[in-house]
Amino acid sequence: MTQLRTRLEAAPDLRPCQEVNALFTELVGLCCSTPPQLADSALAQLGDEAPMTRRLCAAGETALEQYWARRVLAAADPHAELARFPYLGNYRELVRMELGAVMAAGGERPRRVAVLGSGPLPLTGIVLARDYGAEVLHVDRDPDSLWLGGKLTAALGLPAATAHADLDDPGSEHVLRAEGIGDCDVVVLAALVGQDAAGKRAVSARLARLLRPDTLVLARSAVRLRSLLYPRVRAEDLAGLRVELEVHPHSGVVNSVLVARPEPSRQTGIRGSTVD
Ligand SMILES: C[S@@+](CC[C@H](N)C(=O)[O-])C[C@H]1O[C@@H](n2cnc3c(N)ncnc32)[C@H](O)[C@@H]1O
Repeated sequence: MTQLRTRLEAAPDLRPCQEVNALFTELVGLCCSTPPQLADSALAQLGDEAPMTRRLCAAGETALEQYWARRVLAAADPHAELARFPYLGNYRELVRMELGAVMAAGGERPRRVAVLGSGPLPLTGIVLARDYGAEVLHVDRDPDSLWLGGKLTAALGLPAATAHADLDDPGSEHVLRAEGIGDCDVVVLAALVGQDAAGKRAVSARLARLLRPDTLVLARSAVRLRSLLYPRVRAEDLAGLRVELEVHPHSGVVNSVLVARPEPSRQTGIRGSTVD
């Protein structure tokens, strides 16, 4: 792990190329295939290297998405070019797993979904809209990522509703309310939104104030060595939300998901009364 991280850190940049792709593929492979006991002891030994590796993976993921978003937008056939994206199958499996978890938590196939942290290559929203007919609101704090993601979604012939908001900023509540997050059946909290437990607590408390009581929040997490790729989210990190279900994949899907609903005691905003 350490060797992979230091070689990635030594790379001139993290834009996709043969060497960078090979290093990330090896890292993801190790994180997903190491047996549980070995993974736990390896994670314990890595200590501070874990947040350093996560930051590297977040930067690598953004560089990968920017590269592919521009590539798909420049293509004569965006659909065919998107189908060449090496992790499209993973996103489809992840969304399928998450919708299964929504059903298991008593939810229905969502009509309207907000994806918080949609990114320059908003595949979660694209799969939800294209494969499941959902109406999707893409939210991101980075205007360039939001612009690229919106252009890409439109180039695929899909509606591209976007909202520029930083979930770490209290001001985002006003934007999200105005964009109708209160009408969403499901809200996907991307793994990179809220980089640590304190960040997740602040974001989820914000959502608890904005969402309908029956809205389901899908908080993406990662366990064991997969938490070198994305931050682990624990039920107690989702302040104001009640976790109903946790799903930890044993497949090539990296993310785990926590399915949660607003705690009845924390409902405000959409009904105008303030409780907490
Ligand atoms: C790289 S994308 C990954 C999501 C992936 N494209 C998808 O479809 O599921 C993650 C995005 O989260 C955004 N992000 C991170 N923290 C955020 C925050 N506090 N508020 C809003 N967006 C955030 C980043 O700008 C980045 O574009």
